[in-house]
Amino acid sequence: MRTIIEPFKIKSVEPIRFTTKKEREIILKDAGYNPFLIHSDDVLIDLLTDSGTSAMSAAQWAGIMQGDESYAGSRSFYRFEEAIRKITGMKFIIPTHQGRAAEKILFSIVGGKGKYFPNNTHFDTTRANIEFSGAEADDFLNEIGKHPEIRADFKGNMDIQKLEKFIQEKGKENIPLCMITITNNSGGGQPVSMQNIRETKEVCTKYGIPLFIDACRFAENAYFIKTREAGYEHKSPLEIAKEIFSYADGVTMSAKKDALVNIGGFLAMQDERLATQCRNLLIVTEGFPTYGGLAGRDLEAVAQGLEEVLDENYLHYRIRSVAYLGDKLVAAGVPIIEPPGGHAIYLDAKRFLPEIPPHQFPGQAIVCALYIEGGIRSVEIGSVMFGKNDENGNMISPPMELVRLAIPRRVYTQSHIDYVSEVVIETFKQREKMRGFKFTYEAPMLRHFTARFEHI
Ligand code: F0G
Repeated sequence: MRTIIEPFKIKSVEPIRFTTKKEREIILKDAGYNPFLIHSDDVLIDLLTDSGTSAMSAAQWAGIMQGDESYAGSRSFYRFEEAIRKITGMKFIIPTHQGRAAEKILFSIVGGKGKYFPNNTHFDTTRANIEFSGAEADDFLNEIGKHPEIRADFKGNMDIQKLEKFIQEKGKENIPLCMITITNNSGGGQPVSMQNIRETKEVCTKYGIPLFIDACRFAENAYFIKTREAGYEHKSPLEIAKEIFSYADGVTMSAKKDALVNIGGFLAMQDERLATQCRNLLIVTEGFPTYGGLAGRDLEAVAQGLEEVLDENYLHYRIRSVAYLGDKLVAAGVPIIEPPGGHAIYLDAKRFLPEIPPHQFPGQAIVCALYIEGGIRSVEIGSVMFGKNDENGNMISPPMELVRLAIPRRVYTQSHIDYVSEVVIETFKQREKMRGFKFTYEAPMLRHFTARFEHI
């Protein structure tokens, strides 16, 4: 088989700045060993996130020039609405400035004390918005999804039995909606099968609970269904996406992922009453319903991006380029979540650094080592991000300790990725030298963004 090439050529380039290892040691120390606090000019390859970091196409930039900046009834809104409706079939489409703004509006209305929201795995902002409303966020990831070393096709699947038992226990009247996140970002970017989405919907229907999809990476999930689930191999990504959303009563999406833009999001639903409540809140917090926190040009770029992301050549390259990095690391013995996810490679910090216990943040130790070794910025998804303190101040750790290498869309070439694999492998070889961390500052919520650390 021939090399799978990037399905684009590069028209505009952005230089990256090189630093020395000595410089990076000082930079990281000054940033309290938290790469969120580093200037991006001091980063060589930025794998912090795939969110808002995509390269836009010439057609998207052209759309930027054509954006209609009318306060009300913007032409760009109608294009945005049509593009989303074509894929999701939702009746009511509400633009927001990013995903968490959609979550904030939704959970301000349906959340509150005594309410429960199940999901395969809540992303951190979703969980935070639910908890901020006073409600409880609960994860029901299938058992296989919790074992990084096991290869399976759909490790993002919901545990349907546990979900149903939970609904019976808590009472359907206390569960305003159920969510499913595709792909499952916090669990390794792993896809959810069509069958599992259908079965989740069946359970929801049985108890009269609406199903909402967190659709950040719906196109990547659709491509996994195409290549891994029987009966979908001859369907287009658009046809598969349409079927996915046919099981949903609502959608939240950060367009910063699979809409290939730098800012944007939306909330969509079939229920008119809920949509009216959401729009009223939108006016207070985001803006008028035909722009909702975005400029007309942003709406254009989202509409165009949603078309491009469902292109089969693009998705083939996208999924393969992430797997390419994963395969190189596995061949060198580096422990990762297998198989590679859709948007990122997740290093398994528990197996990478078995001597460093979760409360000393092995993931953070790897994040720091990758930056010093090669100027690569990654993010910890483990006890720093999701750890909680009990009444006695002891930390309760999440099931996995991971380091995410998120691959921005259409940004880095194969040689950048070759470099990344070399740095990760070198860091793995030197793992005996690595030490754990403790907090010197920790915010009460979403602490990973602003935390500061020192070496133990
Ligand atoms: N849901 C999922 C599954 C996400 O991955 C994100 C963002 C959001 C919701 C919130 O969207 O950032 O536009 O407000 N994930 C980014 C990440 C931040 O790096 O994975 P947002």
